[in-house]
Amino acid sequence: MLKNRKILLGITGSIAAYKAPYIVRLLIKAGAEVKVVMTKSAKDFVSKLTLSTLSKNPVLTDLFDEESWANHVMLGRWADLMLIAPVSCNTLSKMAQGQCDNLLLATYFSATCPVALAPAMDEDMWRHPATQKNIERLKSFGIKIIPVHNGELASGLFGDGRMAEPEEIIQYVTNTFFLPKKLAGKKALISAGPTYEPIDPVRFIGNHSSGKMGIAIAKELQYRGAQVTLVTGPIQNGLSTAAIKTIAVTTAQEMYDVCMAEFDDSDITVMAAAIADFTPVNISKEKIKKSSDNLILELKKTKDILKTLGYKKKVNQVLVGFALETNNEKENTLKKLQEKKADLLILNSLRDAGAGFGHDTNKITIFSNDGKEFPFEQKSKSDVARDIVDTIIHLYYE
Ligand code: CTP
Repeated sequence: MLKNRKILLGITGSIAAYKAPYIVRLLIKAGAEVKVVMTKSAKDFVSKLTLSTLSKNPVLTDLFDEESWANHVMLGRWADLMLIAPVSCNTLSKMAQGQCDNLLLATYFSATCPVALAPAMDEDMWRHPATQKNIERLKSFGIKIIPVHNGELASGLFGDGRMAEPEEIIQYVTNTFFLPKKLAGKKALISAGPTYEPIDPVRFIGNHSSGKMGIAIAKELQYRGAQVTLVTGPIQNGLSTAAIKTIAVTTAQEMYDVCMAEFDDSDITVMAAAIADFTPVNISKEKIKKSSDNLILELKKTKDILKTLGYKKKVNQVLVGFALETNNEKENTLKKLQEKKADLLILNSLRDAGAGFGHDTNKITIFSNDGKEFPFEQKSKSDVARDIVDTIIHLYYE
């Protein structure tokens, strides 16, 4: 995706600048052409020689020598993307306020290409209202901000403000700027996570779903240009992007209600949630006391959302479900595919190590309702999401 792309990497004075050579290396490895422009204080953290060797291009720092002056306009026009990583609190502020006192800033103000920033600073600087206002202002100019991490900072303290890791920066840039937007104009509805079915005010029936697979699919659909709505059950780590509309629910009935309300507008629906199949018939108003040796809970079936949507589906809608199986995997999946009237069913077998709940990896086989079967290797959940979305695009949108 980055092959032959022209990336202009800006580096500012922050300890995270020591990671910049690695960013250059990853960009070059991915086939990009890289030029580097850095501020004077960045030179205290990383050497020009390292960067020019890795990028195979001279590194520019000076605004006032004649050659460099000519370059800032040309550099800004040369690039397909200007990425500033790390961007310090100081440079961020100057960019937001329109101050132009070095070559990097002059290049930024001349750039006609999209711009992405990977901020790096201590937590108090990051959280300061002035910094947050600057971030909002830069976003309003259309600049993309690569989310900071929470972790150990240069001060020795822990908190928000760490620059994203080089691999993530490359992934962000690829996904945001260079993936073909084949789903532009399409709407997608994704369900993710478990549901909790209350027993009494303090207890519920739940499951181990982390929501990671559904979230990865939602992100991937958004990268391809779809307008995404994500319905999640109770999960630990939700989405931190405003680009995806997120609706939080708790019970299977609430998930059903949201899915029914959103489905008609949706071109692509992926039911990745692990929805409870049964819910208590009665929810005790008071906490149930352990007054007897046995407790029998009466459960009733929840509504099958995927099946309801399958019967409601119009011809131009694509409906995708998951099948979590422990045995007779293919047979059970094909039966579910037919019964629920989905277009695609994605099988995870709990017999495959590294598949299913809680893992960061998954191993899937996709079955289509016209008899096709697409097996995949075990991969990270974000790569699995890419395979799923590629399959949807290949089968229905190419
Ligand atoms: N699903 C649903 N509504 C439910 C239960 C499941 O929409 N009440 C969806 C899941 O999101 C998934 C698919 O149905 O996309 C299959 O879920 P799975 O748990 O594998 O199958 P079940 O239909 O629950 O059948 P069983 O548990 O008997 O295997």
